Amino acid sequence: MSLPSITTVYIYMHVGIDDLAIYVPKLYVDYKDFAIARGIEPQKLEYGLGIRKMALVDANQDPACMASNACLKLIQKNNLQPEDIGRIYIATESGLDESKAMNSFVIGMLEQVYGESSFEHAGGIECKFACVSGSYALYDNANWIRAEENNKKSAIVIVSDIAKYDIGSSGEYTQGAGAVAMLIKENPRLLTFDRKVASTIIKNEYDFYRPIGKETPLVNGNYSNLLYLIQVKKAFDSYKEKTIATGLISLKDGESITDYIDFFSVHLPYRKMGEKALIYLLRHEWRHLPRWKNVINEIGIQEPVQKDARGTIESVLSDTEFMKADEKFRRAFAKSTFYHEVFEKKMASSLEASAIIGNLYTASMYMGFRSLLEFEYKKKERDLDGKRVGFGSYGSGSSAMVFSGIIQPEYKDIVKQMNLEEEIGPRIRLSIEEYERLHGNGRNPDDSIIHPHKEFILMKVGGTTADKAGFREYNYAN
Ligand code: CAA
Repeated sequence: MSLPSITTVYIYMHVGIDDLAIYVPKLYVDYKDFAIARGIEPQKLEYGLGIRKMALVDANQDPACMASNACLKLIQKNNLQPEDIGRIYIATESGLDESKAMNSFVIGMLEQVYGESSFEHAGGIECKFACVSGSYALYDNANWIRAEENNKKSAIVIVSDIAKYDIGSSGEYTQGAGAVAMLIKENPRLLTFDRKVASTIIKNEYDFYRPIGKETPLVNGNYSNLLYLIQVKKAFDSYKEKTIATGLISLKDGESITDYIDFFSVHLPYRKMGEKALIYLLRHEWRHLPRWKNVINEIGIQEPVQKDARGTIESVLSDTEFMKADEKFRRAFAKSTFYHEVFEKKMASSLEASAIIGNLYTASMYMGFRSLLEFEYKKKERDLDGKRVGFGSYGSGSSAMVFSGIIQPEYKDIVKQMNLEEEIGPRIRLSIEEYERLHGNGRNPDDSIIHPHKEFILMKVGGTTADKAGFREYNYAN
């Protein structure tokens, strides 16, 4: 007897970001005050780097508080119960302890609201790889759900950081603080991740790092800028190969993968870095296409080629003649109608939040994604349903991850409620003296500038006895 033929039908699980919530501290430094204090032209900050306000934590706040505040908002706005959540992951480069994970502090804070042991089933770890670790955490948690290890529960990935640089350093104007909590589940309302295309690149580098015990990083600024561009491009090359191999995107003659990405959301240490990343990517993707001739015709100068075939970052940066010519070309390309159209249509909205909050390290790209949704929706120019968002995540040290996802039909229900200014709330503009005092840890938690309500705050660090050294005490301020 012959068996009936069986057709196997694979139904792929759609996993992605269902909702997100943000927390931004309410203190900030204004770029004009900062520029005057440091003797910098304000235009450099506003136009050269795209910085208007830098968010700062108060004396009674730390990355764990911000993470808990964003997480609590996410849970409350979705009417979730602790048993709905199977994992809480935190990605940060502002770790508070060399051993104890930040999510244990967060669980402790959440249990002050939901009851003792209410989250004991929710596993998770603190992830570290500079600013890229949040993307790895999202990827791992999406796969945890795809593997059906989740017992029908959702995951929460929180990205939370304080970007703090030395006073007087060139990194000082790229500071900021904040957290984003994301709900990861099956059939998400905001964004479904494209399958089998997430791509990473990794290399041992010292562009930006923070040795143990040091509060601020050591930075090779220009090197880090170029490394960011190169690493994201390399990860993008691998993404491109995968999108073609899996059939996610089929390119016709003269087309670029970038034509199939409706929006770009990239790591944003400062607003202008987003523009730089897009310029770099488009130049790389377009220079071999027929359209490049039209671009060059409009710009009126040829793209310079570096003579040194070794092409190391050091050799590129030390080739002053090439760097000068390349800068000239980059500026001209940025003014071209070809670039301008893509920038306005696909990236500009994602940069709005960065200019008024500053660098959030791990949270920067996700704040950018949040910004993209809100400000693109407010334009009311087009329906975002079905549009592809391409993500370019970068972490110094260094690793990049490129992945993409599709905005889902239900996005409107969530995005129509977004209002960045309202969610941040009223803010206090600090004088430079106050900022420097906070920067130098000159205030204790009980001497904070703001006395918040309905927020987690840090009460105290370090117990009175040796066995409690390093203890961090938090409270939900009612
Ligand atoms: N008006 C308008 N623009 C002006 C200006 C003026 N008066 N004066 C200067 N500018 C422009 C410059 O022309 C330059 O523009 P381009 O980048 O387009 O050429 C821009 O302002 C920046 O000026 P500088 O080149 O003088 O740069 P800087 O010495 O101030 O350093 C920086 C900038 C390297 C980003 C520095 O702030 C830094 O080291 N930041 C920390 C490291 C960092 O953020 N690296 C980014 C990649 S690594 C990463 O992304 C991980 C992370 O989060 C840290």
